[in-house]
Amino acid sequence: MKNKLLTAFACAALCTAGSLSAQTPIYLDDSQPIEARVQDALGRLTLEEKVALCHAYGKFASAGVPRLGIPELWWSDGPHGVRAEINWNDWGYSNQTNDSTTAFPALTCLAATWNPEMSAKYGKAIGEEAVYRGKDVLLGPGVNIYRTPLNGRNFEYMGEDPYLASVMCVPYIQEVQKNGVAVSVKHYALNNQELWRDHIDVYASDRALYEIYLPAFKAAVQKGGAWTVMGAYNKFRGQHCCHNELLLNKILKGDWGFDGVVVTDWGGAHDTYEAAVNGLDVEMGSYTNGLTSESEFGYNDYYLADPYLKMLKEGKVPLSTVDEKVTRILRLVFRTAMNRQKPYGSLCTDEHYAVAREIGDEGIVLLKNDPVTKKGNPLLPIDASKYERILVVGDNAVRLLNEGGGSSELKVKDMVSPLDGLRELYGDKVQYAHGYLAGRPMYGQVEEVPQAVVDSLRDEAVAMAREADLVILVGGLNKNHHQDCEGGDRIDFGLPFGQDELIEALQAVNPNLVLVLLTGNAVDMPWLDKVPAIVQGWYLGSMGGKSLADVLGGAVCPSGKLPFSFPKKLTDCPAHAFDSMAYPGDSIKEEYKEDILVGYRWYDTKEIPALFPFGYGLSYTSFEYGKPVISAKKMEADGTLTLSVAVKNTGSVAGKEIVQLYVGDEKCSLLRPQKELKHFDKILLQPGEEKTVTFTITPDDLKFYDDRVGRWVAEPGKFKLYVGASSTDIRGTATFELL
Ligand code: BGC
Repeated sequence: MKNKLLTAFACAALCTAGSLSAQTPIYLDDSQPIEARVQDALGRLTLEEKVALCHAYGKFASAGVPRLGIPELWWSDGPHGVRAEINWNDWGYSNQTNDSTTAFPALTCLAATWNPEMSAKYGKAIGEEAVYRGKDVLLGPGVNIYRTPLNGRNFEYMGEDPYLASVMCVPYIQEVQKNGVAVSVKHYALNNQELWRDHIDVYASDRALYEIYLPAFKAAVQKGGAWTVMGAYNKFRGQHCCHNELLLNKILKGDWGFDGVVVTDWGGAHDTYEAAVNGLDVEMGSYTNGLTSESEFGYNDYYLADPYLKMLKEGKVPLSTVDEKVTRILRLVFRTAMNRQKPYGSLCTDEHYAVAREIGDEGIVLLKNDPVTKKGNPLLPIDASKYERILVVGDNAVRLLNEGGGSSELKVKDMVSPLDGLRELYGDKVQYAHGYLAGRPMYGQVEEVPQAVVDSLRDEAVAMAREADLVILVGGLNKNHHQDCEGGDRIDFGLPFGQDELIEALQAVNPNLVLVLLTGNAVDMPWLDKVPAIVQGWYLGSMGGKSLADVLGGAVCPSGKLPFSFPKKLTDCPAHAFDSMAYPGDSIKEEYKEDILVGYRWYDTKEIPALFPFGYGLSYTSFEYGKPVISAKKMEADGTLTLSVAVKNTGSVAGKEIVQLYVGDEKCSLLRPQKELKHFDKILLQPGEEKTVTFTITPDDLKFYDDRVGRWVAEPGKFKLYVGASSTDIRGTATFELL
């Protein structure tokens, strides 16, 4: 609908100029190179028009130049589907009837597929929905590193490893942008907690910055070609990230050559001068607290609106600053809103649902699948012929998990719940008990559930479990405040809503217990030994119930692996192993004391066993790894070598295995993690089939960021290659020397 309006808009401008039949201005001529169009348009703009491009004029819109037929830009969340329409001037939903979309699995689930092909499918499908909905910028993907399991927004990110996040974000970005819709890679950078997110001042070393927190953003920009980047709310080394000289001017635009637009997170700008000179291009959402409160200020009061215009006119900031911003914004407009080659898009198609289901199928991680008795079989896949009564328990079995969570909330057209999915598969055998209640999702507030309700729901479920043959508890976290939700961190590492007691009580009356955890975070598992089967089901979106049924029922062999470690206890986790200045800080400042040892880098190096390590996930089949073979024992400083390993499916069903290659530097002048992920490959193997996976190791795989000289360095000496089925399940090693 919007596309048509824009075309009419542009034509009107042309006709007024009487130029349709005469010569089309360069900026309107899409046969001209974009840079020529940008320069042409820039030259036609008044200073006022330029400044108007640099800030919002609606909650999710920034102005165009009507006089020249340059349309406004429409921005939308992101990142798991296209958010429902928000009112022009407040945060309420505008209750349209044509803005329901597909909910795709959360990015944590996408990362757990370890399959870039899934990422490409995700990007294509969500990009098609975004362009159909008339969006120019989709606010996602999120690539902040998983630093603590308490971060309320981990579910929107891609785990703890910079390499995995880098590989997985690129196809998403490329495929979205093929639709003439820009991504906005967020939240740049070091936005690793929600508590005090709008002002906490993060101090991390250069090594942590370059080795851990920046690589995924760099890949998004340089390999993915992202057209916009969203600044984070927090500060880094004393300056807000949305106008941070080091992060934006030096690194993003300077070192990485980013040619797109830097947009604030909504309300992330705080100072006109800094916003003018420190690399910010578009200011959105100011004078709100992000999601709820409003203020009297109008859009012309934004830092990059009238105050900026005044400073420009008074010569307090150079005119070149606005020309640079507008150059980038025009480039974005030509890539998106004025891109006449872009497709029409589509919404909630069978294909999109199939993609959502497939990503769910591949991202679900089987954490545990032990036989209940010594001689018995594991509970999964479910052998329905053995059971008359299958009891499904849990609020998450029926809850609309697309609701809540903050800006990633979605209005869905269709949603298959876990209970629906299991009923479709097992029909009348399925009974349901709520088991626990969680209250409604309310932004910034928690609805308490009375203890009497907690007790009676648990007792009812336990009574039904006693009579059932198999119990499937679908629990975990949800999108309520202080769970997996923006604007606050989790308060407890444990499961909420009395689930620990519920699990123990169910298990006590029925040992055939399958626990499905729907979370974006690791949780404490005090009952681990008692529960024979545990499935990590993330947030799976519209087709979640089908994906879960696919895996639980065995139509799909689980092949997801964890994109972050599950610690045994919170204090094992690097961010929590120090004093509170390391997390959550003192409300003003925070120091990343674990430095480069994030996630498995910490557990490995400090020899602290994780409960479930990074890269871990079980299957319904088994894989045997051959001995790794390397092409040479020595590598030239500018050379490469290969490592090959044969992997065989030794079980009785087809399955996918994720073969992981980690590199360890045996001797280094600075501390390095024991090993780091540098390559991986996901392969499909039929029963009995064997394939050889080959990785090429380059000097870049061996480098660390040497903060003494300010660059990436590979020191000559011995390196060890670890081939693993997870970060701790190492199936073979090989060593070589870098000359
Ligand atoms: C969130 C962003 C989001 C923006 C717009 C902010 O509160 O941090 O991720 O894109 O709002 O809704």
